[in-house]
Amino acid sequence: QACGDTGPGRMLEPAELARRVLGGADERSGGLLRGKRVVITAGPTREPIDPVRYVSNNSSGKMGYALAEAALRAGARVTLVSGPVSLSPPPGAEVRPVETAVEMLSAVEQAVDEGCDIFVATAAVADYRPESCAGDKIKKSRGTMTLSLVRNPDILATVAARAEPPFTVGFAAETRDLAHYAMDKLKRKKLDMIVANDVSEPGIGFNSDRNAVIVFWPSGQQSIGPDSKQAIAERLMALVAKHQTQD
Ligand code: PMT
Repeated sequence: QACGDTGPGRMLEPAELARRVLGGADERSGGLLRGKRVVITAGPTREPIDPVRYVSNNSSGKMGYALAEAALRAGARVTLVSGPVSLSPPPGAEVRPVETAVEMLSAVEQAVDEGCDIFVATAAVADYRPESCAGDKIKKSRGTMTLSLVRNPDILATVAARAEPPFTVGFAAETRDLAHYAMDKLKRKKLDMIVANDVSEPGIGFNSDRNAVIVFWPSGQQSIGPDSKQAIAERLMALVAKHQTQD
């Protein structure tokens, strides 16, 4: 390391070191997802208004990246379709970066076509996008401005509606009536499982290191947390592995 940064003497990142020592599957997860192909969406989408502005949300990608790491530890092959975030991807995940919901749909469809046993939609996808993106930066002129929005495709529902869908897990970020809205999404989008996330509580959910969720499937439910997103991801992946094999 003559330059101090690269060379044979440099230690691997701790997570990569752990993964190599444990042969890709963590002792605690016991290789529960060994051989499974998992596709995970994470982070926000950005829907452009003009070359320098966009519509987006507060998703940091932390929950989705923690799930990718947990799936890797459980022995899965992981494709992470990620909106713009400032996180380092877990070593071993194949990352496909995207910006918009339309790009995310296309990357997810391709990843599922390549082979997918489990699809987990953690991303906070913008439901609407500006009808058109201005070619130049919009100048301020009038006192008010109206932005015309059109619906984005529903990535989760599109995957679940396939003729042979993977085991499909959605998230539901809600500020009230958590169970009611989550169960509605489970049924309406024909999901195998939904993770209800109360994003009205301070310190959990969007852009924090901790979370608390209630997981629903057609015949049951389980609360997980409050805990770190890493601990929640590990328990969630164990639950997914259990239910996916029962399918
Ligand atoms: O990224 P973090 O800062 O760690 O925060 C994590 C989180 C709060 C974003 C995450 O835990 C979470 O709740 N993700 C879902 C957020 C959301 O947009 O929920 P929703 O209720 O609007 O969407 C329901 C489901 O449909 C989600 O699985 C979503 O990925 C999916 N969806 C939504 C709209 C759309 N056009 N396509 C989709 O696939």
